[in-house]
Amino acid sequence: MKSKEMKESAEFIEARLQEKPTIGLILGSGLGVLADEIENPVVIPYKSVPHFPESTVSGHKGQLVAGRLEGKQVIAMQGRFHFYEGYRMDQVTFPVRVMKLLGVEKLLVTNAAGGINEQFEPGNLMLIEDHINNMGTNPLIGPNDEEIGPRFPDMSQAYNRELLEHARKCAEDLNLAIQQGVYVGNTGPTYETGAEVRMLRTLGGDAVGMSTVPEVIVAAHMGIKVLGISCISNMAAGILDQPLSHQEVIETTERVRQDFLSFVKQIVNTLP
Ligand code: HPA
Repeated sequence: MKSKEMKESAEFIEARLQEKPTIGLILGSGLGVLADEIENPVVIPYKSVPHFPESTVSGHKGQLVAGRLEGKQVIAMQGRFHFYEGYRMDQVTFPVRVMKLLGVEKLLVTNAAGGINEQFEPGNLMLIEDHINNMGTNPLIGPNDEEIGPRFPDMSQAYNRELLEHARKCAEDLNLAIQQGVYVGNTGPTYETGAEVRMLRTLGGDAVGMSTVPEVIVAAHMGIKVLGISCISNMAAGILDQPLSHQEVIETTERVRQDFLSFVKQIVNTLP
C-alpha cells in the first residue's frame, strides 16, 4: 500500500473532474454500458493515470468515467483489473484506494457470475449479501497503514445492510424479481469443474466469479459502504449439460442490460 502513489493518482484524476464524486461504480463484464448513461462525462483512460495498471480482458474498456448519474456525482470504472490477468492484489484494488481519496463513500460493485444455486436462472440479478474469499490470498497482506484502516478489519458487514435494504426496495418499486446470496470469489481464469461447483454449493455459495472480493475487502478496510450486484450470466459448470464460454457470459449480460440499467439507476436516484 503505497500512499504516495495513491495520492498522485488521485491528484491527477481530481484535476480533471468538475465535481467531487461520492459514489463509485465498478462495472463488470458486459455491464460497462452503464457508464454511457453518465451525463457530462469526463473519460480518463487507465493508461493515462499515473500508477494505474492497464486492463486487458475483452468486454472491458479500461477507463474511468466521471460525471452525473441520476443527479449524483459518480465515478465509474469501465472495466476492472483481475487477479487472473497477473496483476498483484495491490494493483487489482488500487483504484478503490484512489476512489476513497477522491471522496467516494459508497461503492456499487458489479460482476458477471455463474449461478451455483439451482433456483437461479441465467439473466437473474443477485444482490450480494456476503462473500467467500476463495482466492487463497488477501489484498491486505503486508504492512498496514493505520491511517487508512485497521490491521484486522471486520468483514461481518462488508456488504452494507442499509444499502441492501435500499436495493431490495428499489427492486420492489420496479417490480423486478431479484435473487440474493453469497458470492464466491475464485481466481480463475479457468471456469470451475462440476466437482468444484458442488463443493462451493456445500460451502454456502450461491454464485461464483473471478473478481469483486479483493475490491470489497479493500473498500471495507477503508470504511466505504459497499453494494454488490451479480448478473447471473450462466449456470455454473456441471449444472446444465453444456460447456461454459465467455461468449455466453457476454450474451447474457447484454440480454439483461435494460433490467440492470434500470435497477442501478433507480438505486442511485433514490440514494439519500
Ligand atoms: N464461473 C466463474 N466466473 C464466472 C462464471 C462462472 O461460471 N460466469 C461468469 N463469471
